Amino acid sequence: MITPPRILVVDDDRNLRLLASILSSQGYAVETAVNGIEAINKTKSTRPDIILLDVMMPEMDGYEVCDRLKSDLSTRPIPVVMVTASTDRDSRLKGLEAGANDFLTKPVDRAELTLRVRNLLKVKEYEDFLNDHNRILEEQVQERTRQLKEAFQNLDIAHKKIKEGYLDTIYRLTLAAEYKDEDTATHIRRISYYSQTLAKVLGLGSDLVETIFYASPMHDVGKIGVPDSILLKPGKLTPEEFEIMKSHPTIGAKILRGSESAFLKMAENIALTHHERWDGTGYPGGLRGDEIPIEGRIVMIVDQYDALRAKRPYKPGLSHDRAYEIITKGDGRTMPEHFDPKILEAFKEAAPDFKRIFETYQG
Ligand code: C2E
Ligand code: SIN
Ligand code: SIN
Ligand code: FE
Repeated sequence: MITPPRILVVDDDRNLRLLASILSSQGYAVETAVNGIEAINKTKSTRPDIILLDVMMPEMDGYEVCDRLKSDLSTRPIPVVMVTASTDRDSRLKGLEAGANDFLTKPVDRAELTLRVRNLLKVKEYEDFLNDHNRILEEQVQERTRQLKEAFQNLDIAHKKIKEGYLDTIYRLTLAAEYKDEDTATHIRRISYYSQTLAKVLGLGSDLVETIFYASPMHDVGKIGVPDSILLKPGKLTPEEFEIMKSHPTIGAKILRGSESAFLKMAENIALTHHERWDGTGYPGGLRGDEIPIEGRIVMIVDQYDALRAKRPYKPGLSHDRAYEIITKGDGRTMPEHFDPKILEAFKEAAPDFKRIFETYQG
């Protein structure tokens, strides 16, 4: 059964009983209040659909009651019909100012009362419908927003996983390309971290820092084209052997060439230029200064630090201090002027991190 509309009648005299009985007989659920305070309390507790409010009451008059109801957000939507003794303009204006929605004049005409109440209830019903509708829309918007956020979070997680998978793939393929070296797996991982560290110290943007992290481990993939007999030779290379060795940057760049991926483009640059030297004595291009892309200059110093620390078939592993000394002071084969001075400074600053990275990523 549909609950009947609730009407609160507020009046301090007989009039109240008359109005109440008329409305009750029409099937409305009628509540009554005999003063302003009771009216406000009952409005809050019973939430009527409409309020009939007498103007003339002791203590708090109808204007003030109306004003209070209309200043409270929770009671504002409830239509208020002011019941006035007079039809004069001033009292109507006062009522409108207090926020009254309609007026009835005493003595109340039965037919007029019925029509006013019916009309206002229709308006109220429509407003309630709109409010409900808005509330439901609002809830739907919130729900969609939540779903969207969740989708973004999932995308983020997926993105992270893809990156991790990508990195893992790089490591594995690089490892496969260079499987001959005992220490290579951790070497290529360390190269990522040293390069990331130097790039940060050099103040490169976070995108570049990330790209070099992923791109740097591929610098030596071209060694796949170098015969084992050279790569694994326990002693010093002959000049002819070293000439063959020097083809690995070009071979690596060829392997990595032609990709749309920013990682692989940078990897191609790095593969090609990680043995170029600042003073122009490097290979394969004999490039000098900033003809060498910065990622190549970074990986060049990084690669040498790690090669010096690592045990190779042709050399023992060196201590951090010895590797630091060879890079910063030179040993004849390696010389400080091989390095971009700015990057050499950054290396000095980051040396403790290099030491920590080498010690952390082992075997
Ligand atoms: P790698 O072993 O990864 O070394 C990379 C780079 O680190 C070398 O580039 C070099 O600049 C530096 N480096 C490595 N070990 C030493 C060292 O004991 N002293 C000094 N001062 N620097 C060192 P580089 O010279 O162009 O060599 C490229 C690659 O050629 C090396 O990569 C390695 O695979 C191979 N290679 C170079 N020399 C020899 C050698 O005498 N015997 C063998 N078997 N392979 C060598
Ligand atoms: C490299 O990946 O740089 C070569 C690894 C090695 O020579 O041990
Ligand atoms: C990592 O530290 O494993 C990832 C770092 C990065 O994505 O740059
Ligand atoms: Fe190399």
